[in-house]
Amino acid sequence: MSSARRGKVVVAADAPALAEIAAERLLARVRQASGRAAVCLTGGSGPLGLYQLLTQEPYRSALPWPRVHWFMGDDRFVPAHDRLNNMGIARRAFLDQVDVPPGNVHPIATDEPSPEAAARLYAAELARFYGSARLDRARPLFDLVLMGLGPDGHTASLFPGDPALDEQERWVVGIDEARLEPYVPRVTLTFPTLASTREMLFLVAGSGKREILARVLAGDELPASRARSDGDLVWLVDRAAAPEQHHAT
Ligand code: 6PG
Repeated sequence: MSSARRGKVVVAADAPALAEIAAERLLARVRQASGRAAVCLTGGSGPLGLYQLLTQEPYRSALPWPRVHWFMGDDRFVPAHDRLNNMGIARRAFLDQVDVPPGNVHPIATDEPSPEAAARLYAAELARFYGSARLDRARPLFDLVLMGLGPDGHTASLFPGDPALDEQERWVVGIDEARLEPYVPRVTLTFPTLASTREMLFLVAGSGKREILARVLAGDELPASRARSDGDLVWLVDRAAAPEQHHAT
């Protein structure tokens, strides 16, 4: 473990170890929450090992499912059952396999007429859950926000060069054009909303991510470099993705 300029880097030996550390952190955050807990999930391949672990012991029994609420940091604007839909992927991977009250799953409504309409609806749902339309840094919206890192440095659906990167007021925005595969419109939480968390946890695995991760940790001008957290910011990476100086940690 070592400190990066922005956040803490935790290196896991491999992908299964990464999933286990993520599951432990998720469980700890949920347990710390008094009353209901809010977890913001992510798409991509990064969280799949974690999702699978949550359906297995000891996590299956240890998680207080009735009081955990599941949100999504971004989604592809495709029908809920489409194989590209992030909440659909999370449902199939774990939410459908455990005893989650249906009202605890908060998908982005991708059947709305436009990504913008879906964004407005999701912002209203988040504000309703939070109890205010104004975020207070002393009272984060989420207990845990999971994030991924794309090969171009994007995170959530915040792509390089997109004006959404600078959004400071709106909680959720529609992205008409994804700048990377899959080329479908997106809906994404903005940086200030994602920052409203007790912990932001990036999950980054594989040698293909090594170079872009090194650039982000060095503070290069890339979307993921702008990620902030009102609480902890943790980069959980496997050894294959870890930049050289983090290998011995
Ligand atoms: C999406 C994701 C996206 C993802 C990264 C990393 O909907 O595409 O939310 O931001 O997290 O692209 O994806 P991998 O984990 O597959 O590398």
